[in-house]
Formats: sequence, structure tokens, C-alpha cells
Amino acid sequence: MSNSGLNKSSPVTEQIVYLNGEWLPLSEAKVSVLDRGFVFGDGVYEVIPVYHRQPFRLQQHLQRLQNSLAAVRIDTPHNDQQWQLIFNTLIAKNSGDDQSLYLQITRGVARRDHFFPKDVTPTVFAMSNPLVQVERQVFTNGVAAITLDDIRWQYCNIKAITLLPNVLMRQQAADHQAYEAVLIRNGHVTEGAASNIFIVTHGVIKTPPKSNYLLPGITRDLVVELAHASQLRCEETNFTEAELLNADEIWLTSSTREIFPVVRLNDKTIGTGHAGPVTTRMFDIYQEFKASLKTTAG
Ligand code: PDD
Repeated sequence: MSNSGLNKSSPVTEQIVYLNGEWLPLSEAKVSVLDRGFVFGDGVYEVIPVYHRQPFRLQQHLQRLQNSLAAVRIDTPHNDQQWQLIFNTLIAKNSGDDQSLYLQITRGVARRDHFFPKDVTPTVFAMSNPLVQVERQVFTNGVAAITLDDIRWQYCNIKAITLLPNVLMRQQAADHQAYEAVLIRNGHVTEGAASNIFIVTHGVIKTPPKSNYLLPGITRDLVVELAHASQLRCEETNFTEAELLNADEIWLTSSTREIFPVVRLNDKTIGTGHAGPVTTRMFDIYQEFKASLKTTAG
């Protein structure tokens, strides 16, 4: 990297990352070109939001990580306590009360061969990036999205690092001045290329049920939980592209963006063209829930 010398002279501000048991400045963290993550995309990942220096919904993220590792048959390199220690150290070593943790585990480094290598140690990499709270006005303005055929494989429930279809589809969205691609498989809406999806029709909130065709989003699950707790009508049910296009409100969820409204879909204005009342209510409930945790944590 051309700026690595610069980074070395300012170690205070440089991101500190975790790689295979070591704490390193980002510019010094190196992985072999034979890492199966690099060669095959053979690995899994997690993205965990941190508020007030506390990982949010950590147990749920660790459980999903466990499920992803088991699904691709990588032995868990650490137990929950060890992960927690790694995350807490990472949070302490990086600046900002709100952060976004990225954890990636690959099958490890081995001579290139499709078969699982024997006696290989998984590569474990974790970094933290600043997490910027979305401003109210940005939330209200919402984003544009386009619908696309879901070209992914049959194991979308695994949080695999193999994201080429997602990258291609999000870029296609960007090429149309849209933020996200909403994916359609066999006539049904699955999720966004990097988010889960909710619609509101006649006051009822709907989100597709969990299946192997979508990622079981941690934010999605919390939104469903909070909607029920707040007496809002919320159904986990499949819906078609036509229902999506005719919805009164649409929003997307992810750990980094929380809840964000879709106000334009394929050049059609959704609702008033701004965040709708149910979306706004859900956003407020979500923020109240986060604030209540801060109070509990002291
Ligand atoms: N993506 N579906 C897909 C395909 C995703 O990539 C994501 C998140 C979600 C939302 O899941 P969660 O609420 O657990 O973040 C749904 C992350 C943020 C990413 O790849 O950066």
C-alpha cells in the first residue's frame, strides 16, 4: 500500500485489527494468497453493531455464526467467552462509542484443491469500523431500490463470504441510482442484496418467513419481536412482487443501517415518497429499545 509509511507514523489513529491471535495495525495484517477465503471464498462472516461500546444482540450473532460454521463444516475456532474477549478488546482498541464489528473465518491456508484440507487451522480476522447513527432527516428521506431476479444459490441462510451475486446485484442497483436491490425468487420477494425486507399493507406489517432463501437477519428478528411487543400486527408470510409494488410502506433492515425506508421502487413512488407512519413508529420503537439497554447498562 502506498500510504503504509504514513499509517505507521500515526499509530494512534490507525485501526487495530485481530488476525489469528495477534493485534495489528490494519496495514500490517496480512493473509497468505493461498488462504481459501481468497482462493475459493471458502468462509463465513458476521457484522455486529456496537452501541456505547457494547456489542448489540451478541448472543444472537454468535448463534448465527455457529450455524454458518456448522453449515460449511468449519470447526468453531473459539467458544463464546473467547469471542466475547476478542470483541471487547477490539472495541477498546478502536475509537468511537458506536462501532461495527466485522468477523471473518475462513477454512485456512492450504495448497489449492477443492477438497477440504486436512489439519488446517481456520483463519480468524476481526476489524472494527466506526458506526455512524443515521440522522432523522436521512431516515425520513429514505432510499431508492430496484427489483431483480434472485440469482443466488440455495443456501442464502448461511452468512458466507462468497458474495459475488450480491455484489453484482447491488452494483446494478447503484447503476440505476438505487441503494439496494430487492430480490425476487419464483415470484416471491426474499430479501435485499444486503438487507431483509418488510412491507406494510392495510396496516399489517409483513416480512418473508425464514428459509434457506434468505439470511436470518438479527435486525429482522428484533423488529418482529418489537412489533409484537408493541401490539403492531406483524406477519411472517410470503408476498409477491405485485404486493411489494402496491405496498403502502416498505422498509429494509440490517445491522449497520437498522431500519431504512424504501420510498422509490423501480421508479414508482412508495406511499408519500417519504418514510411512512408505520416505518417511523417502528424506527422510534427500535431507538427506544437501544436507549433502554444503555440505561440498563448504566
Ligand atoms: N449484511 N440479508 C443479507 C443478504 C445481508 O447481507 C444482511 C446484512 C442482512 C441483514 O442481516 P442483519 O440484520 O443480521 O445485519 C440480510 C451485512 C450488514 C453486510 O454484509 O455488511
